[in-house]
Amino acid sequence: MVYSVNCVLLQAGLAKIIGLAGETNVQGEEQKKLDVLSNEVFIKALVSSGRTCILVSEEDEEATFVEPSKRGKYCVVFDPLDGSSNIDCGVSIGTIFGIYMIKDGGEPSIEDVLQPGKNMVAAGYCMYGSSCTFVLSAGRGVNGFTLDPSLGEFILTHPDIKIPKKGKIYSVNEGNAKNWDGPTAKYVEKCKFPKDGSSPKSLRYIGSMVADVHRTLLYGGIFLYPADKKSPNGKLRVLYEVFPMSFLMEQAGGQAFTGKQRALDLVPKNIHERSPIFLGSYDDVEEIKALYAAEE
Ligand code: AHG
Ligand code: MN
Ligand code: MN
Ligand code: MN
Repeated sequence: MVYSVNCVLLQAGLAKIIGLAGETNVQGEEQKKLDVLSNEVFIKALVSSGRTCILVSEEDEEATFVEPSKRGKYCVVFDPLDGSSNIDCGVSIGTIFGIYMIKDGGEPSIEDVLQPGKNMVAAGYCMYGSSCTFVLSAGRGVNGFTLDPSLGEFILTHPDIKIPKKGKIYSVNEGNAKNWDGPTAKYVEKCKFPKDGSSPKSLRYIGSMVADVHRTLLYGGIFLYPADKKSPNGKLRVLYEVFPMSFLMEQAGGQAFTGKQRALDLVPKNIHERSPIFLGSYDDVEEIKALYAAEE
C-alpha cells in the first residue's frame, strides 16, 4: 500500500494531482487531492486483504465496518497522508497507522477502536521524503526499513531503533506561544534559556508530524503539540497520530505524555478525538512532566 502511495506521490507534481480536492473533511480541513487518493488506496487494500474488520481514517467521518465475507480480526486506524499542507512545496509527508485486535469474537463495534493506545498490537509510519522510510513496531522494539526502488522492496536499514535518553532539539510550533499554558511556556523558555549553564536546545519544526517524529526518534529530543487557549485538546488526533507515535516512542525507550497522563493510557471517547502530546527522549519528557506535576 505505502509503495503504491509513494509511487503516486513521486508523480504528483507532473500528473497535476497536487492542490485542493475542493472538499472539507470532518476535521474542518480543506482536503488535498492526495489526501483523498491515498485514503482510497488504503481503504480498498485493507478491505480486500480479508484481515480487517474496522477501519478508521482521518479522512472519513465514520468508521468503515468491513462486510462479513471479507472480515478479519484486525482494526486499523490510520492517517493516510500526514503533513498534507506540505504536499505542494515538496516537504516530507507520510502515513501513520495503528492496529488493534478486535476485543472478542463478537460482532465488531465502535468500542473495538475506542481502546487505550497500550492495547495496540502494532503501529508505525511511512515517510515519503528523500527516501521512502517505513518504521514499525509490533510490541518488541522498533525497526526501520528503506525502500530500494530498483527492487521495489523495503530493506532493513535501522534495526532495533533506540531513542537517545536526552536530546538537543525541541520541536514545536512557536507561533502558538501566545496561547500556551504555564508549564509548556516554562518548558520552552528552559529549552531556549537554560539556567544550568548548558547550551540551549535547537528548534527544528517541519510541520509534518511524521518528519518531526522521525527526526526525534533518530536524533533524540522532544516533539510537542501542546494544548492552547484556542485548542484546549491540542490539534493532533489520538487514534491515528498520538497513539501510534507514542507506541513507537515507548518501544524505542522514550516516552509520551499528554500533560495529564501517559499518552497510551488515554481511553478515547470518539474516533477523531484530539489530545495534547509531548513525546521523545525519556529525560526530556520527564522535565515537562515535572512542570505539569508542579502545577497540580
Ligand atoms: P494532517 O496533514 O494529517 O492533517 O496532519 C497535520 C498535523 C501534523 O502533521 C503536524 O504535526 C501538525 O498538523 C502541524 O500543525 P501546525 O501547522 O498547526 O503546526
Ligand atoms: Mn489533515
Ligand atoms: Mn496527520
Ligand atoms: Mn492526514
